[in-house]
Amino acid sequence: ISAPTSANSAVATAATAIVNIASLVTNDPSLGDGTPLGLIQDAAVVIDGDRVAWVGESRKAPATDNRVDAGGRAVIPGFVDSHSHLVFAGDRTAEFNARMSGRPYEAGGIRTTVAATRAASDADLSANVARYMREALRQGTTTFETKSGYGLTVEDEARALRVAAAHTDEVTYLGAHIVSPDYADDPAGYVALVTGEMLDACAPYARWIDVFCEKGAFDGDQARAILTAGQAKGLHPRVHANQLSYGPGVQLAVELDAASADHCTHLTDADVDALASGDTVATLLPGAEFSTRAEWPNARRLLDAGATVALSTDCNPGSSFTSSVPFCIALAVRDMGMTPDEALWSATAGGAAALRRTDIGRLSPGAYADLALLDAPSHVHLAYRPGVPLVQEVWRRGERVV
Ligand code: NIG
Ligand code: FE
Repeated sequence: ISAPTSANSAVATAATAIVNIASLVTNDPSLGDGTPLGLIQDAAVVIDGDRVAWVGESRKAPATDNRVDAGGRAVIPGFVDSHSHLVFAGDRTAEFNARMSGRPYEAGGIRTTVAATRAASDADLSANVARYMREALRQGTTTFETKSGYGLTVEDEARALRVAAAHTDEVTYLGAHIVSPDYADDPAGYVALVTGEMLDACAPYARWIDVFCEKGAFDGDQARAILTAGQAKGLHPRVHANQLSYGPGVQLAVELDAASADHCTHLTDADVDALASGDTVATLLPGAEFSTRAEWPNARRLLDAGATVALSTDCNPGSSFTSSVPFCIALAVRDMGMTPDEALWSATAGGAAALRRTDIGRLSPGAYADLALLDAPSHVHLAYRPGVPLVQEVWRRGERVV
């Protein structure tokens, strides 16, 4: 990860200029209109290699060999989806159907996917990850975090991370998703495995360690033991926290300086204060509340308290089978008290903050040239026109990929 700068630099003529952009989101408040989105109207972006070399008014764009006309459309940073569970096999249509007829969501459904995932070949798991990452890319996602958590044996967790690492650098070890069914009568034995032999096998493939801190999964003491064991192996923590009920997850995440506390659906005032005071990002995953018919997380309350909020999909076959960040943006604006500007920021710069990255999630000089061209004059249309496939082109690392 390089140290980017935001000053326009000399531009090689071999660069590519995307000109005639009606509205450009840079996420650099020192640029454009001075808001957090750093909006520039009638803008251009110049891409040199895999990086942004220049941004500014279209009429001032430097001469380059290649010019692309955005046709008066909007350009935004590629979405940073900082939370997904893509290494799985099978699906849970029957469980979704039952929920939509009134059954509650229970973490125990994870066991269905564990059985299917253990039975799948490496090639099938890899094809599944590739399929959903491609699906997400078509919807503007240029960075994807993904997790293990449907293997729950030493071999199956390590294999899940190996598969994930072939598709993304943002890989999270979630051996502590639920207590393995093989250890149903010995949860302490399972925690010992997750913090011992399984951690040793998994750490080489992962950047992050995660735990599902929840009733029916892991309590606060277990979660602390798991996260600190991961830290001792060089993994950085993130936490599934306060999704289904109030609990210790959020405060533990802040105490351990986790990059992110994810879900944050049931928060006390003390939880909100903790998130506002620390560097831990509150990652909200409205696809999960949609698909489990649960109450929405309150983004407004977090933002008003001064917390940093990210928006991600939680893409997984149980609680949130969507790869669409635009869908999550629309939900967050409609039901969680976010403005369209805030939701766009959270799905780009917020996701980058949740991965502790400054080289993505913004379009200013030095950042990776990861961007989406919308078939709309402004990013506001992502929430204003829900369900409409507005992502027309996607560029990743300076190359057009969609
Ligand atoms: O983030 N909360 C725990 N894990 C997933 C759900 C996994 C599943 O139901 O398969 C989540 O929502
Ligand atoms: Fe999750």
